Amino acid sequence: MKVIFATGNNGKAIEVKKLFENTEYEIVSLKDIGDNTEIIEDADTFEGNALIKAKVIYEKYKTPVIADDSGLMVEQLNNEPGVFSARYAGENCTYDDNNNKLLSELKNFPEPHPAKFVCAAVYYDGNTTHSLFGEFKGEIVMEKRGEKGFGYDPVFKPEGYEVTLAEMDLEEKNKISHRAIAFEKLKEKMCPA
Ligand code: IMP
Repeated sequence: MKVIFATGNNGKAIEVKKLFENTEYEIVSLKDIGDNTEIIEDADTFEGNALIKAKVIYEKYKTPVIADDSGLMVEQLNNEPGVFSARYAGENCTYDDNNNKLLSELKNFPEPHPAKFVCAAVYYDGNTTHSLFGEFKGEIVMEKRGEKGFGYDPVFKPEGYEVTLAEMDLEEKNKISHRAIAFEKLKEKMCPA
C-alpha cells in the first residue's frame, strides 16, 4: 500500500523508507511525487505540527500519510526552543545562528545543561490517526564540535557518549535518535504482528 511521507527532507525520507522495507507499505516522499506544498506549522506541540502536515497532504491526495515534527528541549531554558527549534534565532536563520543563540542563552547557567530531542511521528488516513513519540536524552556542550549531521548536532552530546552528534556517524545516530524511536513505534502500530 502506498503511503506518502510528508517531508521534503531527503535524509529523513531515506531513513524512513529503509525502516519500512519488507513491510506492506511503499513509502513515497513529497520529492518523489514532485510536490513542494508550503505547509504552515503553527501548532504549539510537535504532535500538532506533525498532524497539520499529515492532514494537508492527505486532503490533497486522499492517500494515507505519515509525517513527523521534532525539536530540542533544554531543561534550564524552560524546554525552549521546543517547537521553535528551526527558527530559534529568527526567521531565515542558519543552524549556526541557532547554535550561537543557544550557547549564549546558556552561558549563565551551571553545567551540565540537560536537554533532549523529541520527535512526534504520525499516521493519518482520513479515519485512523496514530501518534507516537521518541525522546533522545543528552546535554548541551558549550563549544561546537564536529561537522556531521545538521541543526543542533554540534552542541548535543547524547547520554552515555563522549562525542557530539556531529562527531558521530550518521548511521549510528539514525539508529538511536528520537526520530528512529518514534518511527519504530509508528511502524509497530501500522504493522501489528
Ligand atoms: P523538523 O522536524 O525537521 O521540522 O526539525 C525542526 C528543527 O529541530 C530542525 O531545524 C533542527 O533545528 C532541530 N532538530 C530536529 N531533529 C534534530 C536532530 O536530529 N539534530 C539536530 N537538530 C535537530
